[in-house]
Amino acid sequence: MTNGPRHGGDRFAHGHVRYRLGMDAPDLHPLNAALIPLLGTWHGPGEGAYPTIRSFSYGETLTFGHVGKPFLALQQRTQERESGLPLHAEAGYLRPQGDGTIELVLSQPSGIVEIHTGTVAETEAGVDVDLTAEAVHLSPSAKMVRETRRRYVVEGDTLTCDFWMAAMGEPLTHHLRSVLTRQP
Ligand code: HEM
Repeated sequence: MTNGPRHGGDRFAHGHVRYRLGMDAPDLHPLNAALIPLLGTWHGPGEGAYPTIRSFSYGETLTFGHVGKPFLALQQRTQERESGLPLHAEAGYLRPQGDGTIELVLSQPSGIVEIHTGTVAETEAGVDVDLTAEAVHLSPSAKMVRETRRRYVVEGDTLTCDFWMAAMGEPLTHHLRSVLTRQP
């Protein structure tokens, strides 16, 4: 049995895992097949650190959706753990190329735009998307970020997100890790 998408309206299967996406979900574009494990909404805790700041905790909600075209739309928002106040947010598109490579375009209210290329690897329990920024563009008032790297690893109903950046004069250094759970 292959790991390709089998869609009967609202259902997708990936390996042994079945996903329900709502009655009116359009057919998945074949280029998105390897990304099926990402689809849906994820929620959970995260931890942040960087040499120039105090470490912090946050809550994250991350959604990957599709409209039948060859990309997934990504929307993320985070909250301060204690107060619930909004922290970082971002929105963008994952663009699988069908040959194991993938692109990501992403914009942030902090004045930063990232354009990534990377790889998609199907795994026994999900998928591993590993991205390195080709370009980081800054609005005039944004903080100085030179390079970024991002990784999204799905294992069953757990999504682990990691983020590294070279910023504020520091070399590429880990800034964030969140461990999210698939929402029903
Ligand atoms: C889950 C998403 C994120 C959260 C919750 C988060 C949270 C934070 C917090 C709480 C700070 C310290 C705030 C302060 O002291 O001003 C910070 C600093 C910073 N973050 Fe993030 N961040 C996130 C994502 C990002 C991303 C995607 C980038 C870059 C593309 C980024 C770049 C920075 C920079 C440059 C600083 C400033 C460091 C400094 O002032 O020395 N952050 N972040």
